Amino acid sequence: METEKINQLVIGWLQQAREMILASFSRKLTVETKTSRNDLVTELDRQIENFLVQQIKANFPAAQIISEESRPKLKKFDPQQPLWIIDPIDGTMNFVKTHHDFAIMIGIYQQNQGKLGYIYDVMNDRLYHGGPEKGVFCNQQRLKPPADLPLNQGLLEVGALTLLYDRFHLQKIALASNGVRIYGSAGIQIIRVLTGQVIGYVSHLKPWDLAAGRVLAETLGLTVKTIDGSIPDVLSSVDVLVATKNAQEDIVRMAQAPY
Ligand code: IPD
Ligand code: CA
Ligand code: CA
Ligand code: CA
Repeated sequence: METEKINQLVIGWLQQAREMILASFSRKLTVETKTSRNDLVTELDRQIENFLVQQIKANFPAAQIISEESRPKLKKFDPQQPLWIIDPIDGTMNFVKTHHDFAIMIGIYQQNQGKLGYIYDVMNDRLYHGGPEKGVFCNQQRLKPPADLPLNQGLLEVGALTLLYDRFHLQKIALASNGVRIYGSAGIQIIRVLTGQVIGYVSHLKPWDLAAGRVLAETLGLTVKTIDGSIPDVLSSVDVLVATKNAQEDIVRMAQAPY
């Protein structure tokens, strides 16, 4: 199927998924813990995941799917066939605590290359979507590549735990920026890098936290690298940096400095 037809289908599913979330606000949700008291899953995470997986399977029988709540085994996938990576709600803790910063995310890859990415900022009704063939859009508006600012000329987004535990000198790196922002959703934080509101986002991420944002960031000429400057594997959980090229160089240099 052509990219634009896939795109129209996915956008339609995401709009339906958003309606499911808005409809859920009138009822009490079931919330369960997974690995710890801060690792939550709600009935909406599962409902949206099931909906998206059903739609993908019905329309693309050859699709390979990784989705967070199905606890996927990150086994070898056939790189020749499309790989769909889904985070049904990114920022589940925010969703549970009635904060507005959460997103629905899908990344589509083939031959280890990002084809299409979707980050839906549900509460603001802003869908960031696109890929190398068509560019990056916020709803219908095309995004321009952000200015290539260095670390000391921009705000920095981080994952809270990565900062609190001061992994790879992150506190020192954060102090070298214009200030730190933490929104509790990888998708929402990566959006701010895409729009040039911040110069970078650093966190430990799982494949579904990064897949969508990576396609969009790379399409806009931003870098997506591990904290030691290498190219992250699509299926690995890694300390990762989505940033302008200049900020990426500054951050990797500081992260590699000896203790
Ligand atoms: C989490 C959020 C959070 C990030 C965590 C992720 P989830 O995703 O993106 O901001 O710090 O590492 O697991 O579990 O809410 O989809
Ligand atoms: Ca989760
Ligand atoms: Ca996530
Ligand atoms: Ca999630």
